[in-house]
Amino acid sequence: MTLIAPSLLSADFGKIADEVRLAEEAGADMLHIDVMDGLFVPNITIGPLVIEAIKKSTKLPLDVHLMIVNPDKYIDQFVNAGADILTVHVEASTHLHRTVWDIKNRGIKAGVSLNPATPIYSIEEIIKDLDLILIMSVNPGFGGQSFISSSLDKIKRTKKLITKSKTNTLIEVDGGVKLSNAREIINAGADILVMGSEFFGQKDYKKFMGKLKEKIK
Ligand code: DX5
Ligand code: ZN
Repeated sequence: MTLIAPSLLSADFGKIADEVRLAEEAGADMLHIDVMDGLFVPNITIGPLVIEAIKKSTKLPLDVHLMIVNPDKYIDQFVNAGADILTVHVEASTHLHRTVWDIKNRGIKAGVSLNPATPIYSIEEIIKDLDLILIMSVNPGFGGQSFISSSLDKIKRTKKLITKSKTNTLIEVDGGVKLSNAREIINAGADILVMGSEFFGQKDYKKFMGKLKEKIK
């Protein structure tokens, strides 16, 4: 079964608790939270304090996507804030194996994300250590960008590597995911779909989720 993770980046932050509740009521499986530092990506978003507040308003797992340099420095803060999955970027971490185990040793799941230009072989050596691989299908930094079509082949190759490695690592896909391309992305091998602008751009989240689940079942 494919899991749906609405990305709060496209939610209305003026009423974030309501947005979180509505996404949960609509049937979201987890909430994707984008942390940006203005260095690794050109944009700045939210930090542990806001995640702590979100945690209090939902039972859904929090899937925290760190788009920051020096992620090791902040693992504790994000774990304490309530992250259930903490994903770091390959490109931002010098000692990825250590970072991944720092996260796992704190009792939560560890993910690693790859930018569109980053080859899969960059995580080949540690694939068995990973709970999740987050394939970026846009260059990170902003919501509402178009899906980079070559990502489909990258997802397929990642799936092959996972199968070959006999691990249970999940594939999450982030960026430009829509109702219209969801089926194709799942067919390529995705287990979790992140949806920002497509989800929060809807008037009725529940109705949309019904349509989406029907399309991908
Ligand atoms: C982009 C973020 C995404 C973003 C996706 O850097 O990592 O999670 O919210 O937004 P959409 O679904 O609108 O492309
Ligand atoms: Zn993201």
